[in-house]
Amino acid sequence: MKIVNILVIHGPNLNLLGEREQDIYGEVSLGEINAKLRELAREEGVEIKIKQSNSEAEIVETIQNERAWAQAILINPAAFTHTSVAIRDAISAVSLPTVEVHLSNIYAREEFRQHSLIAPVASGQISGLGINSYLLGLRAAAHLIAAKK
Ligand code: DQA
Repeated sequence: MKIVNILVIHGPNLNLLGEREQDIYGEVSLGEINAKLRELAREEGVEIKIKQSNSEAEIVETIQNERAWAQAILINPAAFTHTSVAIRDAISAVSLPTVEVHLSNIYAREEFRQHSLIAPVASGQISGLGINSYLLGLRAAAHLIAAKK
């Protein structure tokens, strides 16, 4: 079986999950999300590399640097969803199938969160399902790779 590589990116402030705005994001920590992603990746026979960064530049560099390794990207761009032309352009530049995920339902929140600059260059978006947004997103990314082969 061919090895499938998926790059997982968590944007700014997601390192504080579990203590940050629990009413919106729940009690689950980033470490717990990553452990579940690793467990699911094993089950699906997928290799994952996980990167969390609070820096837009570092996220752009990670997308560029991993472009040959990765066959798909799973990304929660967090606040950069609503602001970052640079991350959008990086995703567009590497031409990898990309799944955008959000823990909260961004369409049920403040108006400024209801617009994603990333969505038009993503294959799809999953928003509002908590940790399941990530788990379904990882499955979707694996299926997108399989569909391309
Ligand atoms: C988020 C939603 C964003 O609007 C916010 O800035 C985040 C997290 C989510 O996962 O629900 O940091 O991406």
